Amino acid sequence: MNLIKVKNYDGMSEKATKLIVNRIHAIENPVLGLATGSTPEGLYQRIIEKYKQEEVSFKNVTTFNLDEYVGLEQNDTNSYYYFMNDKLFRHVDIAMNCVHIPSGIAEDLEKECTAFERELGQAGGIDVQVLGIGGNGHIGFNEPGTSFSSRTHVVDLEKSTIQANARFFHSIEEVPIQAISMGIETIMSSKEILLLVSGEAKADAMEKLLLGEVSEDFPASILKKHEHVTIIADAAALSIAE
Ligand code: F6R
Repeated sequence: MNLIKVKNYDGMSEKATKLIVNRIHAIENPVLGLATGSTPEGLYQRIIEKYKQEEVSFKNVTTFNLDEYVGLEQNDTNSYYYFMNDKLFRHVDIAMNCVHIPSGIAEDLEKECTAFERELGQAGGIDVQVLGIGGNGHIGFNEPGTSFSSRTHVVDLEKSTIQANARFFHSIEEVPIQAISMGIETIMSSKEILLLVSGEAKADAMEKLLLGEVSEDFPASILKKHEHVTIIADAAALSIAE
């Protein structure tokens, strides 16, 4: 794993933007794996700026998102579809038929997972997957204990994840208790992975990732087995590990 240390959130977002824009330029029909949450927001803002300055285009880009809540409509402000549209897609020239986010309201969720995997295969797999990390080491919504051989699946969210995500909802009761998530093996089959980590709240997780063993009890630890991982982490996130 290649660790790039930066000062703060802005530094992380800046470096991540350079890497993603570079890959969009270098790959003919790039397939990006995208994440939601607070971590990649600065990256998406900067990508939009680059698009406005005509330094990057999404015309040939296909995207696959890591996850979506079960039970939320696309136009629900808390759905990950809404998030991606609001924070990135509607501001750039991406063709919406090239955007893939699992549907959390599909009648048959299992079928939805299979279809998502099929589309991912048809697109030729992910060139660069952007990841954030949960305080408990989750990647996507793969909570501790998830099999390393999992593909896209329906997951029950941990209490700590529901609590962490409650900040976006009116009350904790409104937070969905299930999600569809790319599996660990799905994430690991990406050609390149970019993990972004910022803030003190992630310091424990960073210590476990950098110094701990590879174990299903800490899902992100599997990244050590991937050939092409870049971690961009800020000083606060690295405060315990170093
Ligand atoms: C989001 C996702 C999650 C987040 C993680 C960190 O699509 O899959 O794994 O990356 O929960 O969230 P933030 O960035 O809000 O700290």
